[in-house]
Amino acid sequence: MNLLKQWVANSSEAVNIRLAVPGSGDDDDEDDIIEFNPEFTYPIFGEQEQIFGYKDLMINLEFASGSLASCFSMGYKEKKPTADKIYSTMKDFLPDDIIDNHDLFTQIAQRDYISFKPMGTKVSEYRSNAEGAENSVFEFYHCNFDTPRFLEFHKRMQCFAIFFIEGASIIEDTDEKWEARLLFERVSENGQETYNFVGYSNMYPYFYYPDQIRMRISQFLIMPPYQKQGHGSRLYQSLYNDFCGRKEIREMTVEDPNEEFSDLRDKNDMKHLDAKGVFNDLKAPIKKDRIEQVAATYKLTKRQVARCFELALLRKLD
Ligand code: ACO
Repeated sequence: MNLLKQWVANSSEAVNIRLAVPGSGDDDDEDDIIEFNPEFTYPIFGEQEQIFGYKDLMINLEFASGSLASCFSMGYKEKKPTADKIYSTMKDFLPDDIIDNHDLFTQIAQRDYISFKPMGTKVSEYRSNAEGAENSVFEFYHCNFDTPRFLEFHKRMQCFAIFFIEGASIIEDTDEKWEARLLFERVSENGQETYNFVGYSNMYPYFYYPDQIRMRISQFLIMPPYQKQGHGSRLYQSLYNDFCGRKEIREMTVEDPNEEFSDLRDKNDMKHLDAKGVFNDLKAPIKKDRIEQVAATYKLTKRQVARCFELALLRKLD
């Protein structure tokens, strides 16, 4: 075995993200912990995603599942004197108020479990038929940086964008034009209501000549334990409905969508345009002015509408 190799850790495998739901394990005194690894750590540890100088390295980032209060800890079997510095490398990407005292964290997580409530304006709610969500209601909240408690929460939540959205960067939280939609799970059990963070999207309004706005979805994330249960589509629909209802918004765009997001966007836009009868009497070729008219009516980009027409034509071939 290559002797050097045992001193090199893959940073995405070494980092464990742990969501703590206090007192909700099988035994009521036990915490329920949901663990997963980040997708990306190269913005923090470099392109190779390698950490040198530790044997069996483990970096734990524990979060309270609702308030996202957090705790940093690490462990290893052996360390070289020249080992990479971990906390100082990660610091700029972690919440400002992360602590390293686990006992204190447990107390904070327990307190937040009972007292934490989402911030901002509640927009809507829905139920999910996903397994285990029988006692849950999912709630959307709209915020900006003027919303009380949002700036603090945003500083905690931003690291998930770095860990799960390729190419994401920390956004300028002094720019009051940013808008965010947060999704929380409200769990009602034993007469108590508690909240878990499910996901979010943030958006930035750009100028659309002469007097309107092009709203750009910048970061869009559903936390790993909640993925593939329909929450991403719900979040997308919730944003779209909001944009459709706002006169000043002319168009919705998306910043660097990845394949998964593009699929989700196509599926939801197709569903909406189908319901509006846009693809009735579909015949190729589709004229440019038809694409422009549909784009203007439904606040979508011309490119996205052309893509939807293409998908509808392909579907017809099937
Ligand atoms: N059971 C099983 N499958 C289901 C269920 C269910 N109850 N409900 C929905 N699904 C399926 C959907 O049909 C869909 O299937 P498909 O992949 O075959 O098309 C799939 O699950 C995903 O749909 P949703 O559940 O609505 O989407 P999800 O909540 O998983 O969110 C997202 C998708 C946003 C890409 C999420 O995976 C994520 O956050 N990933 C990491 C971050 C990321 O990539 N963000 C987008 C970057 S681009 C940007 O930020 C602008």
